[in-house]
Amino acid sequence: MKQERASQGFFEAFHRHHTVLTRAPGRVNLIGEHTDYNDGFVLPAAIEFETWAAAAPRTDRQVRLVAGNRGEHAEFDLDHATHPGTRHWSDYIRGIAVELERDGYRLPGAEIWFAGSIPEGAGLSSSAALEMSVGMAFLHLAGVTPDRARLARAGQLAEHHFAGTRCGIMDQFVSAHAQSDHAILLDCRSLAYRHIPLPESLRLVICNSGVTHELASSEYNKRREQCEAGVTQLRTTLPGIRALRDVTPEQLQHLGARLDPVVLQRCRHVITENARVESFAQALAQHDLAAVGRLMEESHHSLRNDYEVSCNELDALVQFAQAAPGCVGARMTGGGFGGSTINLVQEQHVEAFKEFVEGGFERAVGTTPRIHITRAAAGASCVTTLPA
Ligand code: GLA
Repeated sequence: MKQERASQGFFEAFHRHHTVLTRAPGRVNLIGEHTDYNDGFVLPAAIEFETWAAAAPRTDRQVRLVAGNRGEHAEFDLDHATHPGTRHWSDYIRGIAVELERDGYRLPGAEIWFAGSIPEGAGLSSSAALEMSVGMAFLHLAGVTPDRARLARAGQLAEHHFAGTRCGIMDQFVSAHAQSDHAILLDCRSLAYRHIPLPESLRLVICNSGVTHELASSEYNKRREQCEAGVTQLRTTLPGIRALRDVTPEQLQHLGARLDPVVLQRCRHVITENARVESFAQALAQHDLAAVGRLMEESHHSLRNDYEVSCNELDALVQFAQAAPGCVGARMTGGGFGGSTINLVQEQHVEAFKEFVEGGFERAVGTTPRIHITRAAAGASCVTTLPA
């Protein structure tokens, strides 16, 4: 697909040439799950699946959209775009445009064609990639050089205000900032980050369970509320804390008995997961792959038992992966309630790994998981800008 298909798609949709062409990737998270909205640490990587957006400006404030994958179109007026989401794909585009304008940018109307290769509902952040590719296109049309952190923040707010998910900043941030063959270690409070090289011998293997749970968004918001309740309850003895990020595992052990039992479970996941991100980054730096695998396993257990966001299909995928050839580590990735697992696998064993997990899962669950072998990809970019 790529560049030519986007150019052609735009031309067929709007009978003229685009002036801007952008791309932005989906992501997997290696470790640091449900920590981002607790001001904590995450370690995601962008993947080779991505969204492309071709765009050209208009002289008015109308936005005309064509979704290439679906063969559908939609439109809105930038001056009347702030109404809440309607659970339509155009909400993400309206959302990023409105949030960029709320942040002070003035955008022109536009014609936009987009399409991509990121499977939807697989927990690989297709919506963040859409926001980042289209957001970057809008900024180029407005004649400004994108500030990637502001763009990521606008994408996060688009999810809050237009999709109804009170997500953290991880997905948008990594889609905007990633570097190929690297993961990103991000401090979600300060937004300070470091590119962490991934071992050349490893591949990122994504196993998509094919399951998407209706309740994912409401359960996600509920987890966030439980974390906030934890902060409120802990603040009575730790008045200086702002978020679970400020609580150590020792403090929680000491004060845990005072918390509501479910809130305690949620806090324990977040606080131990934050510590695991740091250990994981160290293990990678020391090339200690045994520790990498152990930390991924601990993370999955914590998400399953304490945070309760896994499901049978994800657990089965992890279980088969752990017994498969070449597996360094396996865990669910992203928000959970279905979606995918991420597996770090030795390159020479990827095909055997795939076969083993596919076969085991088919026998146990009765459906075929979709397995993708990928590498860490580069973040959003503007591929061409032509004069209007
Ligand atoms: C979703 C959200 C992210 C993050 C993860 C869980 O992907 O969009 O902000 O909270 O879930 O780590």
